[in-house]
Amino acid sequence: MSKTIIISNRLPVQLEIHNNEIKTTPSVGGLATGMKSVHSGSNDLWIGWSGLTDENIPKNLEEKIDTTLKDHGCAKVKLNAEEVDGFYFGFSNRTIWPLFHYFLEYSEFELNNWEIYKAVNQKFADAIIAKADDDDIIWVHDYQLMLVPQMVKDKKPDISIGFFLHIPFPSYEIFRTLPWREEILRGLMGSDLIGFHTYDYERHFLSSVRRLLGLDVSFNEVHIENRIVKVDSFPMGIDYKKFSEAGKANSLNITENQSDFQQRLNAHKESTKDAKLILSIDRLDYTKGIAKRLNAFEYFLNKHPEYKEKVRLIILAVPSRSNVPQYQLLKKEVDELVGRINGEFSTVNWTPIWYFYRSMPFENLIDLYTSCDIAWLTPIRDGMNLVAKEYIATRTDKTGVLILSEMAGSANEMNESLLINPNNFEQTVAALQQAINMPVEEQQERNDILQKRLERYNVEKWANDFINSLKEQKENSISYVSK
Ligand code: ADP
Ligand code: G6P
Repeated sequence: MSKTIIISNRLPVQLEIHNNEIKTTPSVGGLATGMKSVHSGSNDLWIGWSGLTDENIPKNLEEKIDTTLKDHGCAKVKLNAEEVDGFYFGFSNRTIWPLFHYFLEYSEFELNNWEIYKAVNQKFADAIIAKADDDDIIWVHDYQLMLVPQMVKDKKPDISIGFFLHIPFPSYEIFRTLPWREEILRGLMGSDLIGFHTYDYERHFLSSVRRLLGLDVSFNEVHIENRIVKVDSFPMGIDYKKFSEAGKANSLNITENQSDFQQRLNAHKESTKDAKLILSIDRLDYTKGIAKRLNAFEYFLNKHPEYKEKVRLIILAVPSRSNVPQYQLLKKEVDELVGRINGEFSTVNWTPIWYFYRSMPFENLIDLYTSCDIAWLTPIRDGMNLVAKEYIATRTDKTGVLILSEMAGSANEMNESLLINPNNFEQTVAALQQAINMPVEEQQERNDILQKRLERYNVEKWANDFINSLKEQKENSISYVSK
């Protein structure tokens, strides 16, 4: 029976070793949380990096690591410290990530990192080639592995290969600044189907293919040698049932079942009856606009002192890519901003910001989603932003207001939220006021529409649409060749 092989840098679980024991933690980030729902319960294989470098793996644990991953339906690609540095922290996160999010000034073009990126992509491709049968489907994910499709196609020309990019594809004017732009495009063109979250990213990609590779693009098909590559948009959904059921269970309000964290949140809400809780959850990443959001919050409190003691901002920032200097600087900036704002506005009874810098278990994430009156998610640029969708899905009684940046891919499907440009502080302040004062009926009306849409276009539908489109494309391609 044919199987699907999922391949991404990040596996759904991360391994750590403490006192010669293997510890697994769920990975954070849209790719891992979304694909995890699709993968669990299937017989598909997921290949990726375990999070450990070769140097960190004691000899006696090697076999156990493999069986631990196997229990999660996964297999590992081994990377040493130099590879992780050049491929992951280097080319992936110091070149491609900032460039594709329009942070051109953060993007570093280092030949050595590019060479390591190529070599590591070949390692991932070899891992697929070793495990794949000709009738399997290969599904490659994200910007860390853009050369893999062509590397696999070279060795297994008849196998079906799909690629999905979880981040924006930038406009041609940005993409063309990359020294290795043609190589990246050629790597991707080894796929039979290339998917993006939005039509805009798809359009940008096709424009680069046409202008940089000179290939014939008609509608959303690219003609290359004797093949056709299809390019399409597939906005990623969430595991709606999981989030809405977790929200329901949480709001049953049975005290014995509540986590300690939830009880504290409830106690807080009781003691500050009219105060609104505003939630912001992101990986600590400069694309998420956390520092700008804090500046906007300060601006809001200065402009509208009547809201002092009436609102509280909860910031949950998950540690991410902390070896990259920009992330270290951001951590410092956020720490200082939180300190300054709390120092400036706190009273004996009130601290305006609660700041958590850590990952949280799923239950606590749900506690936050269900307890907060407003979710304020304002990335400067974001491929999708699943947190926005998760917040709405957990709101069982349909209350809650989402303030969302129009620069997030998810904004395309969430018109009923309050969409803002995060650079426009006046608009942000107006949205905060509107959210704080929005009548319950209006909240429910908006969320009812949003929830129905999220339920219909859930992550399972997203994955099925992609795989079906890939199968269809493969058949069309075969009949095109035989004509
Ligand atoms: P990105 O992929 O850029 O990190 P998304 O919003 O698309 O952004 O996805 C983030 C994912 O990580 C969501 O599925 C969310 O549930 C999960 N997540 C976010 N914060 C935490 C946290 N503190 N602990 C655990 N999981 C988290
Ligand atoms: C984004 C990327 C993913 C990545 C995730 C977490 O969602 O699209 O590919 O896995 O961020 O980042 P990390 O660097 O920890 O894998």
